[in-house]
Amino acid sequence: MFGFELTFAACPLAVAYKTIELKDYLPVHFDIITVLPDLLASPLSHSIMQRAKDKGLLTVEVHDLREFGIGKHRNVDDYQFGGGAGMVMRCEPLADMIDKLRKSRTYDEIIYLTPDGERYAQRRANQLSLGKNLLLICGHYKGIDQRLRDEYVTLEVSIGDYVLSGGELAAAVLVDSIGRLLPGVLNDETSALTDSFQDDLLAPPVYTRPAEWRGREVPPILLSGHTAAIQEWREEQAEQRTRSRRPDLLGEDE
Ligand code: 6GU
Repeated sequence: MFGFELTFAACPLAVAYKTIELKDYLPVHFDIITVLPDLLASPLSHSIMQRAKDKGLLTVEVHDLREFGIGKHRNVDDYQFGGGAGMVMRCEPLADMIDKLRKSRTYDEIIYLTPDGERYAQRRANQLSLGKNLLLICGHYKGIDQRLRDEYVTLEVSIGDYVLSGGELAAAVLVDSIGRLLPGVLNDETSALTDSFQDDLLAPPVYTRPAEWRGREVPPILLSGHTAAIQEWREEQAEQRTRSRRPDLLGEDE
């Protein structure tokens, strides 16, 4: 039940690690359509995401929807038919932008970030990490005209049961969670295979120096040097932690 063999079977990426030579690996490319391009710059320009980009494993292009806005004011939204509060993102600008992007790429998925989408989880991140071209559409206001969803969108994703002002933060969540799975982005120390959720378990507790701090000691087993015993302890801890915090992950009652 525990340990990382299950992880390997559950994560196609892990198989990819073993079979694809890094030099032959094509980067995963994200196109992101938004009315707030600045909001996406910073979260994708640090630490692991920046390293992924520097290594050429991940490419991200942010596209300002206003480029295709209508009229002098570059309008991208309008009142909703039938009345009611809140604007709706209209068809033409988004359709023009998507049509333009589709001339240079074939997308594995065209993803609309929306609170009424499928709830995002590690399994979906693993699957999407095997793609080559992903198009992300960030909604604003009341969202995008339903006809755009019918015409273009192949996957609708929500990052949780709460409402954000727009899809940008959710798009950054997707890029980060997918980017860190790409072969060569993480080193052994930060391996994605030992993350929480990767085998439907939460990660065990971790400790670093000093061995005693404010009277609190590191569990002695971790200082013992017994690799197998440490592994077993971690699996136990992961299971206990999952059982008390997230029994739903073990298929038990919440
Ligand atoms: Cl993807 N978008 C918005 N606007 N709100 C959300 C969300 C997405 N996921 C959870 N809440």
